[in-house]
Formats: sequence, structure tokens, C-alpha cells
Amino acid sequence: MAARQKVLVARRIFPDIVARLSEQFEVEEPLDDTPLPQPELIRRLAGKAGLFATGTELIDATLLAACPDLRAVCLMTVGHNNVDLAACSAHGVRVTNAPDVLTETTADFGFGLMLAAARRITEAEHYLRAGRWGQWSIDLLAGADVHGSTLGILGMGRIGQAIARRGAFGFGMQVIYHNRSRLAPELEAPLGAQWVAKDELLRRADHLILVVPYSPQAHHLIGAEELALMKPSATLTNIARGGVVDDAALAEALAAGRLAAAGLDVFEGEPALNPALLALSNVVLTPHIASASLPTRRAMCNLAVDNLIALLSGAEPLTPLNLKD
Ligand code: DGY
Repeated sequence: MAARQKVLVARRIFPDIVARLSEQFEVEEPLDDTPLPQPELIRRLAGKAGLFATGTELIDATLLAACPDLRAVCLMTVGHNNVDLAACSAHGVRVTNAPDVLTETTADFGFGLMLAAARRITEAEHYLRAGRWGQWSIDLLAGADVHGSTLGILGMGRIGQAIARRGAFGFGMQVIYHNRSRLAPELEAPLGAQWVAKDELLRRADHLILVVPYSPQAHHLIGAEELALMKPSATLTNIARGGVVDDAALAEALAAGRLAAAGLDVFEGEPALNPALLALSNVVLTPHIASASLPTRRAMCNLAVDNLIALLSGAEPLTPLNLKD
């Protein structure tokens, strides 16, 4: 019997997903949740044909040169900013990600974060838990309305469109968006969505939500200049990637009242946070969990497994990021 191909799982995942992988491959699992530093990842990848990746592993030319047996990197995330796709293609390594399966769950969370920021929900809870609730007052923890307001979406891919549906159909919002390319008219029309230039998006949005993929070009897409264009009554929600926003500039704008509130699920340099953000009450902070419902996390894992099985048996994967040469 031919030796089974070897696969490394980069971080702890659900046991039944490991069991599924083990039906096909010889699997090495990590002992805990700690991310593997690249030298350790390289060491463990020796002799492995496949990597089940969780999105935080740095897959670059250094790693690829040191791992000649590697043929497939299958991410359970949709974001792939830590993977050098060109270098993977040059080394004959196929890469897949996990789009679609997390779209609705991530959109739910983004919308919730926006609501929490606009209606000051976590601030209100902290106020109450701190025993500060004494008496009713006319503007106690009064925030902004979401229904009927203008929803600005930066990045109109699958998740952006899912957020637009929630805004347009559930909350009667006017949807404006900016994206490199306009949506087809048959997608725009039912949403009543309007493509606008980035500056106009910033000026008009009552609630701006960022859903753009991270790339060096998207670094600090929202910085001090862009924040200055926004309405002081507006909110900003980031479920994209930390580097898309200049967190220091955002904290300054929030502290100075130049922006009403923010909802942030992703941060520059996460899991570390800019301490200036922690000191503010008008920002809702969550630890990069927009896709974290149990069914969705399982679906993300299963798609990565399907892709690994396909690639290592010589078939085409379901969701490739680079092509076979
Ligand atoms: C993704 O899939 O890119 C998410 O950010 C991970 O939770």
C-alpha cells in the first residue's frame, strides 16, 4: 500500500474535521491554539504535501523555498493577505481560500457591530454594570438612528452586498458604495444601490462599513484625511482588515468628537490594540470574530478539507486562488 500523504494543520480545529482529514491523510495537529512562528511552521512542514491554514500563517518565498514537498495550502478563511500568491505559483504550490460559506454570518456581525456603535449598546451595558444608572434623562445614551439613514459600503464584494441587502431590505437604508468596479445594473437595482466616488462616500455616509480585502494598496485607505471628510455624527465599522484603517488617526477623531462612534473587529497589529482605542467609550471592540458562528466555522473548515482532498488527489479544488500552470 502506498504511503499516505502528509498534511499539517496549522492551529487547533474541530476534532471531527481532523478526523475527516485523517481518513485521507497522515495528519499532524498542533498541540494548542498558539500560532506557529514561521521557523517552527517550516520545521513542521518538512515532508508535508498539504497545509490546512487558518489565515494567520505567513506563506512567503522564504517558507516556500524551505518546504519543497509542499503542494497545497488550503485556507479556511476568505482573506488571504498573508499568502504570497505569486511566490506560491512560482513554486508550483496551489492555494485555496473559503469564500461564500462565511458571507451571511460575517454580514450579520458587521451589521450588528454597526448597530451597537450607532445605538451605543456596549457603552450602555458598561454604564449599567458600573452601577451608574440613577435616573432617566432626556439624552441618556442617545445615539444615531440606523433605519432610514445612508449606509456607505467600501468594498462591494459578496459580504458588502450581503450587508447592503440587510440595510436596504431590513432597515430602509439608502445604500451608496465605492468599489473598483461598479455592480451590474441587475445587482444594483433591487438594492437601490448607487456607486459613488470614495470622497463622496465618506462625505455622505451616516454609517460607513469597510469590507475591502487587504492589499498594500489598501493600507490606511482610511486615515486622518479621509476621516476629516466624514460627518461628525457618522459611525465607522471595520470588518475588513486592521491595516485598512489608521487606528491612531481613528482614535484621535473619536476622542475629538470628529466622528460619533466606531465598531472594530480588526486591528492593526492584532491581537495587540492601540491603547488609545481602549481608552474610548465610543468604540465597540471585538476580537476578529465576524465569521465566528459555529456552523460557519465548521463550513469554512470543511471547505478547506474538500480543497485539500481535491488538490492532493490531482483534481481541481472548489475555490482556487491561483491556477495550475
Ligand atoms: C476571513 O475569512 O478572512 C475572516 O477574516 C476570518 O475570520
